[in-house]
Amino acid sequence: MKIFVTDTYEQMSRKAANIIAAQVQLKPNSNLGLATGGTPVGMYKQLIKMNEENDINFENVRTFNLDEYYPIDKNNDQSYYTFMNENLFKHVNINEENTNIPNGMADNIEEECKNYDNKIEVAGGVDIQVLGIGHNGHIGFNEPDGIFTKETNCVELTQTTINANVRFFNSIEEVPKKALTMGIGTIMKSKKILLLASGEDKAEIIRIMIEGNIDPKVPASVLQLHPDVTIVLDKKAAGKLSL
Ligand code: GLP
Repeated sequence: MKIFVTDTYEQMSRKAANIIAAQVQLKPNSNLGLATGGTPVGMYKQLIKMNEENDINFENVRTFNLDEYYPIDKNNDQSYYTFMNENLFKHVNINEENTNIPNGMADNIEEECKNYDNKIEVAGGVDIQVLGIGHNGHIGFNEPDGIFTKETNCVELTQTTINANVRFFNSIEEVPKKALTMGIGTIMKSKKILLLASGEDKAEIIRIMIEGNIDPKVPASVLQLHPDVTIVLDKKAAGKLSL
């Protein structure tokens, strides 16, 4: 694992955007695995700026998002589809047809999940997967569990995750209780992983993820087994590491 610690959230975001831009410069038709949540918003802002200044070209880029609530209409204000449009896609020269997010209204969930994994495989796999981390160690929406899930699947969200996401909704009742998420196996197949975390509230889970045991009760701990992981933290999120 390569770990970078920056002073501020803005610096964390800039570093992450530079890593993504370097990936796209080296391979213009990269498959980017993207994440939602508050953490990557600053990185997306930087990428928009770089795109305006012609420092990154999304023309031939394909994207695969980690997850989507279930059930949720893609046009709902809180869908991850809307999030990605608002925070990145509508501001850059990406071809909408090249963007992929699990369908939160799919009738046949199993088929949707299987097709999503197939689509990633047919595209040649994800070149770099961006990840945030939940307070309980979840990545995508892979919640603490007895096993590491392999493929894209439908999960029940834990109360911790529902509580953490209520800030985006009008009330707790509105937060969907399920989600479609790339499995841990799907995430681990990415050629590179870029995990971001900022703020003191992430310091404990970052310590456990990096320095603790590999345990499906801390889904992100599996990343210790991936051969190419870059972690960019602001100094608050790195505050409990014994590095
Ligand atoms: C959600 C997303 C995750 C994200 C997590 C943390 O649960 N499914 O992909 O990493 O939130 O969000 P934040 O970055 O807002 O702390």
